[in-house]
Amino acid sequence: MNYSEKVMDHFTNPRNCKKMENPDGVGTVGNPTCGDLMTIYIKVDDDVITDISFQTFGCGAAIATSSMITEIAVGKTLDEALEISRNDVASELDGLPPVKMHCSNLAADGLKAAIENYHQTHQQN
Ligand code: FES
Repeated sequence: MNYSEKVMDHFTNPRNCKKMENPDGVGTVGNPTCGDLMTIYIKVDDDVITDISFQTFGCGAAIATSSMITEIAVGKTLDEALEISRNDVASELDGLPPVKMHCSNLAADGLKAAIENYHQTHQQN
């Protein structure tokens, strides 16, 4: 299988790979195809993602895409972050082999789940 240098870099040296204490939002998603799991944590200030981290129990492509989505999402507004698709993540990584594209669903879906959780727990009065 051919992985880009960026995929290998994020797999061997993942960014923001840690559990976050007291996150404002947290989302866990599973991939029904393979059983892999990903949790994304976010800190939010004034509708902007100020910090983000992840824990992934999964394949190398899932780890690389989680790592990359943390770099893409930080500094974005929640609305902008919701627009991030699996294709955005894959193209920032200079592509993924077609059979591994489903792995990038976890990253995009995990981020959406974390944002949803933030909205549920921070309802505006
Ligand atoms: Fe499970 Fe990649 S094989 S996320």
